Amino acid sequence: MLAMADDIKFLLLVLLLSCSTLCFGSEADIQCLKSVQQSVNDPNGVLKSSWIFKNATEGYICLFTGVECWHPDENRIFSLRLGNLGLQGSFPRGLQNCSSVTGMDLSNNNLSGPIPQEISREMPYLTFLDLSYNSFSGSIPQNISNMTYLNLLNLQHNQLSGQIPPQFDLLTRLIAFNVAENLLSGPIPPLLQNFPASNFAGNQRLCGAPLHDCTPSRRRWRPVRIKLHRLNDQSSIGVAVGFVMGFLVAFYFPRCFVCSVRLRAYVVRI
Ligand SMILES: *[C@@H]1O[C@H](CO)[C@@H](O)[C@H](O)[C@H]1NC(C)=O
Ligand SMILES: *[C@@H]1O[C@H](CO)[C@@H](O)[C@H](O)[C@H]1NC(C)=O
Ligand SMILES: *[C@@H]1O[C@H](CO)[C@@H](O)[C@H](O)[C@H]1NC(C)=O
Ligand SMILES: *[C@@H]1O[C@H](CO)[C@@H](O)[C@H](O)[C@H]1NC(C)=O
Ligand SMILES: *[C@@H]1O[C@H](CO)[C@@H](O)[C@H](O)[C@H]1NC(C)=O
Repeated sequence: MLAMADDIKFLLLVLLLSCSTLCFGSEADIQCLKSVQQSVNDPNGVLKSSWIFKNATEGYICLFTGVECWHPDENRIFSLRLGNLGLQGSFPRGLQNCSSVTGMDLSNNNLSGPIPQEISREMPYLTFLDLSYNSFSGSIPQNISNMTYLNLLNLQHNQLSGQIPPQFDLLTRLIAFNVAENLLSGPIPPLLQNFPASNFAGNQRLCGAPLHDCTPSRRRWRPVRIKLHRLNDQSSIGVAVGFVMGFLVAFYFPRCFVCSVRLRAYVVRI
């Protein structure tokens, strides 16, 4: 029920975001791209050669490398796919002007520094965020937990430290999540424990399912296990002794045995 209401909300949102430029105006999206182009270091010159802002035709930015529009003749960005372009520098601040973007791929570049702490306020409608294979550092922003529509979050192979924010339990739409090969520590939030262990590997101090549990020392469990073993041994010895004793009693005190036979007959009669 709740999920359905959510889906309807999302549908309305999509309609709203995709409606004509009269609703929003597309200047912000153009500003966004200009700012990204200026702020990142682009040693391969991919953005420099493809992102040329001289054309005033509505929808011209939709032909730029990595830019996908809501509609081909409208300067409103649907998603940005800037993976594998050799980009360097910090997370492009200008992206906050691409506020109707629903997908962001910056993977396999050489970007560094922190992920913006207010990233959800800047790009609230993201359904996928791929920052994997860069050198981002600092903590994973708790604010990502406010990205209600997030389906995919890839942060693997960076230098992120600290905990996975416990608030990530709110990201109920996630179908892909990966934080392998970072410097993370602390417990894995319960909602994320269904993802495979490999998606958390390469972080020395992460704990909880699907990795080892968070108890400070695993050795503590060993004496308990040994005790259980002893208990089992004792009880099996007990059973054996009881059997032998019973046999001896039946052999040497047959009257008592008869007695028990009578008793059995009585029980059956009832
Ligand atoms: C401007 O962009 C449109 C596509 O949106 C393209 O057809 C046209 O050739 C471009 N004009 C120039 C001068 O680049
Ligand atoms: C966003 O765009 C506005 C103009 O539309 C500009 O003044 C502002 O500096 C931009 N913000 C960033 C962070 O680039
Ligand atoms: C990333 O940038 C550093 C310098 O900031 C450079 O030494 C390194 O070779 C770059 N790596 C890649 C894969 O481009
Ligand atoms: C986090 O995101 C929400 C909206 O997505 C925003 O309103 C809030 O101010 C942000 N910052 C913090 C610190 O929660
Ligand atoms: C953002 O998420 C936090 C929990 O992480 C929540 O307490 C807060 O109300 C959310 N803010 C908005 C504007 O959704």
